[in-house]
Amino acid sequence: MKEHELGRARRIAELAAMHRRGQDIVSRLPAEDIRTQYHEDLSPLGWHVGHCAFIETYWVREIVLGDNATTATLHGVYFPDLCEKAARPELVLGREQLLEWTGAVHSENLALLADPPAHMREHRLMRADYLLDFLIQHYAQHLETMHYVLAQRQLLINSLWTPSRALISTIPLRAALRLPTQPVMLGCDAPCAYDNEQPRHAFRRRGGHIAEYPVTNAEYLAFMESGGYRRRELWSMVGWAWLDNARVDCPALWRRTQHGWYELSATGPRDLEPDAAVRGVCFYEAEAFSHWAGAKLPHEFEWEAAARTGLLRGVGQAWEWCANRFHPYPGFRPFPYDGYSTPWFDGRHGVLRGGSEHTLPPVRRTSFRNFYTLDKRHICAGLRLAWD
Ligand code: AVJ
Ligand code: FE
Repeated sequence: MKEHELGRARRIAELAAMHRRGQDIVSRLPAEDIRTQYHEDLSPLGWHVGHCAFIETYWVREIVLGDNATTATLHGVYFPDLCEKAARPELVLGREQLLEWTGAVHSENLALLADPPAHMREHRLMRADYLLDFLIQHYAQHLETMHYVLAQRQLLINSLWTPSRALISTIPLRAALRLPTQPVMLGCDAPCAYDNEQPRHAFRRRGGHIAEYPVTNAEYLAFMESGGYRRRELWSMVGWAWLDNARVDCPALWRRTQHGWYELSATGPRDLEPDAAVRGVCFYEAEAFSHWAGAKLPHEFEWEAAARTGLLRGVGQAWEWCANRFHPYPGFRPFPYDGYSTPWFDGRHGVLRGGSEHTLPPVRRTSFRNFYTLDKRHICAGLRLAWD
């Protein structure tokens, strides 16, 4: 077998594995639950699975093969821009019908991608198996979001849980590491990278420090116990306005009992590990915590430079909010469509780096940039401190 065929066989297996994960989630749940919207920012699980099957078919059939017979009528259901979130629950197919339809289109698409007919092979998106990588990463990201939905579902079930030991707060004392002072190349120009990771460019920071570990649950509890959510001086103007409206006083999935705190996860309640990265905070909470700790959030370039030089520990437990907004790198070119990144360079989206326990290998890389508006806390996100 030639090398490119091996690469393709591996990618086909990876995409099939994504399909199975999605189908598994849906087939294990009560039919009613796959059409339920558990959070205002989160679509029903059944919509996610349908959306992934649609997007795959759209790119393979409509864009590459020029055949819109199966997708034309579905644009208004599965293109997020054309279908408001509140309308999605009613559009979710019945569970058996959804599994049957997605199963059928997935095997057709896999067959086409595994052994493309000659006229398909020439399409620019087929070069270096780009389309396969794109579809794998798209599904992987939706699977992460589906785990956020599952966690919200657990919140609603709200099973009683007695923590096996109380979470005890600790003052942040983690090591501050000196950022590299030599230039570091940021970004990624591998064919599978997203447009927003490109082009690669050098970054140099003379001075500055970053924490070795992300902020932990025990440290976050110290912030809460010292009145962090009531002390206006710790919050930015917008942050305080957000808090005034949101009226929260702990991370999104934390719950309190007389025996102490625990958290909900995608699979149910669990103890809060004192040394695990805190999750379920928005940018404003991350920012207030950093002020309380006498620190700041790292710029995403500081984060990536530190990660690339091997300084960071604990990466991959929670996405880490960075100080700056999502923006294009110098020389940015939209690919494979204008809408993947460009609409979100709007000054309203923050950047998150690293990954969470739900981030799958196809999107786990140092250059990967996640982005959400600053108020989002249903995502598995925390923070890491930085200093000048
Ligand atoms: C980059 C994770 C915010 O899920 O909305 C999925 C990725 N883009 N389908 C999202 C994405 C199109 C995106 N995030
Ligand atoms: Fe999508």
